[in-house]
Amino acid sequence: MKISVIGTGYVGLIQAVGLANFGFKVIGIDIDDSKVKMLNNGICPLYEEGLEELLKKHTGKNLEFTTSYEKIKDSEVIFLCVGTPQDNNGNTDLKYIFSAVDNLKKHISGKKYLVVKSTVPIGTNQLLKERLNGYNIEIISNPEFLREGMALKDFLNPERIILGFDENDLSSKEILKYIYQYFIEKNIPLILTNYETAEMIKYASNAFLATKISFINELSKLADKTNADIKTVSYAMGLDDRIGKKFLNAGIGYGGSCFPKDVKSLTKQFESKGIDPKLMTATDSVNENQVKWFFEKIKNYYGDISGKTFAVLGLAFKPDTDDLRESASIKLIDLLLKEDAIIKGFDNVKRARENAYNMYTLDKSKAFYGYNLYILDSLVEAVTGVDGIIFAVEDTKFNTIDFENIFNMVNEKVIFDGRNIIDNEKIKKIEFEYIGVGLR
Ligand SMILES: NC(=O)c1ccc[n+]([C@@H]2O[C@H](COP(=O)([O-])OP(=O)(O)OC[C@H]3O[C@@H](n4cnc5c(N)ncnc54)[C@H](O)[C@@H]3O)[C@@H](O)[C@H]2O)c1
Repeated sequence: MKISVIGTGYVGLIQAVGLANFGFKVIGIDIDDSKVKMLNNGICPLYEEGLEELLKKHTGKNLEFTTSYEKIKDSEVIFLCVGTPQDNNGNTDLKYIFSAVDNLKKHISGKKYLVVKSTVPIGTNQLLKERLNGYNIEIISNPEFLREGMALKDFLNPERIILGFDENDLSSKEILKYIYQYFIEKNIPLILTNYETAEMIKYASNAFLATKISFINELSKLADKTNADIKTVSYAMGLDDRIGKKFLNAGIGYGGSCFPKDVKSLTKQFESKGIDPKLMTATDSVNENQVKWFFEKIKNYYGDISGKTFAVLGLAFKPDTDDLRESASIKLIDLLLKEDAIIKGFDNVKRARENAYNMYTLDKSKAFYGYNLYILDSLVEAVTGVDGIIFAVEDTKFNTIDFENIFNMVNEKVIFDGRNIIDNEKIKKIEFEYIGVGLR
């Protein structure tokens, strides 16, 4: 069976490479010519562990990339994986979805199945059905749940597969079961439902996790004022398996290409139906403020941060990825730079460092602040001579740092742990000042 994947970003590329690895003949389509060229040369345009090896293994054999929609005509099944960013008002902008579908229309010959993996507001698959009315095509909603940083593992071991169908569509179920045979044999739960339920499951899952994070972040402020230790609170809460320990670590807030925009989009979806989304609004607002609140803690420590130099460790929105979209670390760096601090940034992922460098030199809105920013390839270089070390990404690898050694390299002995990842008792014994989120 021939399969096309439209959009070869974090979701589409994993899907294309993963399906090629299952033995399908796959064509990846993207409007970005430079990305397509890289991919056809076996070069991965994004960082995800293990992805480049698999890309090299299959490219030129059963996997190819193109900017031409014409190649779609040979594919029976088409996965739609283009971005769904937010517009200026927080609504989901469906321009990439509509443009892809309109391009696709021109090349439909014979029966096709369009599997929508992009995260789209409730009602969108029905809207696409109407847009494709009169064409020999079925639409299946199949939201994606992979986590960047472990995307290949998630592709092979999803916790569930959600498939939303049109009630009159009798053939899609068999096609999807054939493609997802590997998962069915592994007894991965398959939820077969309607479009709207499938669409809501995706938003509900992301919004719930985001709410959990904002919940503990809000509590962390109270902990700060009351001598409670938020890390112990999280740990104790997490032992209750009705609550669970994941997504319960206080920090400088969630980021990435999904949670912030999906929470905002869900808020707008409520509002469009005349419902006041109190919980979603609060989740978003707590998150927006969390990084500013931590920034104020840093500022209060010094009084004036102008001319102070900080090592910011961790640049991406989470560990093991190069994705800087909505990264809380970048937001914190911006706040520091705007008050004339000097930043020495480092991330354990090389591509994250490169992306940050490019962002502060090429992005016109940021280039001005980039004068006081240095992206360094070594952690030791980043911390040497600084007035404070800031941990901004939940990367536990930073805990292996030799803090005793670093003690003599820094100017001021203070650590701001924006993710509560560092062993604060150990740090204090070395006589570093330690300031965390909701703990001292
Ligand atoms: N990144 C994640 O971790 C993740 C996880 C689950 C779901 N999602 C959802 O999956 C979707 C894709 O996310 P992503 O992170 O992969 O996005 P991305 O921005 O990394 O990739 C999107 C790709 O689509 C391409 N594109 C845009 N318009 C196109 C068109 N008309 N034809 C062909 N290609 C086109 C872009 O050039 C880009 O390469 C979004 O809806 C997102 O919310 C993302």
